[in-house]
Amino acid sequence: MSETFDVDRIRKDFPVLSRELPGGRPLIYIDSGNSSQKPTQVVETMRDHFANHYSNVGRAMHVLGSESTEAYEDARDKIAAFIGAPSRDEVIFTKNASEALNLVAYSFGNRTNTDPRFTLGPGDEIVISEMEHHSNIVPWQMLVQRTGATLKWFGVTDDGRLDLADGVITERTKIVSIAHQSNVLGSVNPVAEVVRLARTAGALVMLDASQSVPHHPVNVAGLDVDFVAFTGHKMLGPSGIGVLWGRQELLEAMPPFLGGGEMIEAVWMDHSTYAAVPHKFEAGTPPIVEAIGLGAAVDYLNAVGMDAIEAHERELTAYGLEALRSVPALRLIGPDSLEDRGGILSFTLDGIHPHDVGQILDDQFGIAVRVGHHCARPLHLRFGIPATTRASFYLYNTTGEIDALVRGLHHVQKVFA
Ligand code: ALA
Repeated sequence: MSETFDVDRIRKDFPVLSRELPGGRPLIYIDSGNSSQKPTQVVETMRDHFANHYSNVGRAMHVLGSESTEAYEDARDKIAAFIGAPSRDEVIFTKNASEALNLVAYSFGNRTNTDPRFTLGPGDEIVISEMEHHSNIVPWQMLVQRTGATLKWFGVTDDGRLDLADGVITERTKIVSIAHQSNVLGSVNPVAEVVRLARTAGALVMLDASQSVPHHPVNVAGLDVDFVAFTGHKMLGPSGIGVLWGRQELLEAMPPFLGGGEMIEAVWMDHSTYAAVPHKFEAGTPPIVEAIGLGAAVDYLNAVGMDAIEAHERELTAYGLEALRSVPALRLIGPDSLEDRGGILSFTLDGIHPHDVGQILDDQFGIAVRVGHHCARPLHLRFGIPATTRASFYLYNTTGEIDALVRGLHHVQKVFA
């Protein structure tokens, strides 16, 4: 492990990691791709805000109103800096990454939006990939059903990489939306190449960065994409808060997604005009304390250091890949090398359903993994399997926990022998 990275010290910040499960078993939490645990610093920031500063934001003309608004907008500043956004106004708070993806999909083929970059009809194309989470599939399916446009797909290679086949992106492509890091394969996609292909066709590019922003340093300006979606609960923050980052001039060209309080400039009986971004996209009372909690999560990640977190997870992934090789009849779904991949290991065990694997690991070893199709059913169909078992690591995991997983898997195989 890196000299400055002290996993034992980090674990002390996460009270749940020292709790005992029923029967006195320690918890081994390797399900952070699903949702991460929360450090005391985040919990305490949220508690303090609720206890001492809470009120509505942007509309309450009193001390608590200013304190709440300031803390909420400070969180936006922290997130903008964390992802290298050129402007804080490009950071829109949503409920989750799904809402951010739906927001962008809604901007296309919408008759209130005449900007040619967002017009969409029969003959036009949207490109996604076979490795996408349902959040980056279903909004686009709904869009093409609404408009008559066509949904096209990049495939996935046998070793779990994006297959950038020729001819998928064409001059009719309006947007390419792909995962930055797959939530099943762990593959980190070649964004620069996707951007090059998309730009040649004049298409926009969106990244679902739900699995990358928590684990790697991500700089949206450096990636040269147009939109990035991610969620708070996978990066030590609470659930109920997500982020859409978009280029300001695109956000300004897009219609509002949800109508309601605080997203307007003025309202008449026959029409309304809208607030400037980001508020145009934040209708109603927002998830105030959740945003502030996400700001605290960003402070925590910055204090540990994203480079150090990435390096720690790389070591865990190397160790995990090697350790899983010792389990007979285990098939890894995803790259078996460390190149361009994160700390997600999905696999099948011959003849044993992942639900049985997960249940025995949980009941007998206190090991929390995710089993199923992980909201990526087309990817599982591509590999001819209904489900996988998935271990996903974060800054608080240890190689000892991976050893426990391997012992658990050997035991599962004995039970089903
Ligand atoms: N998208 C989350 C996962 O992959 C929920 O588990």
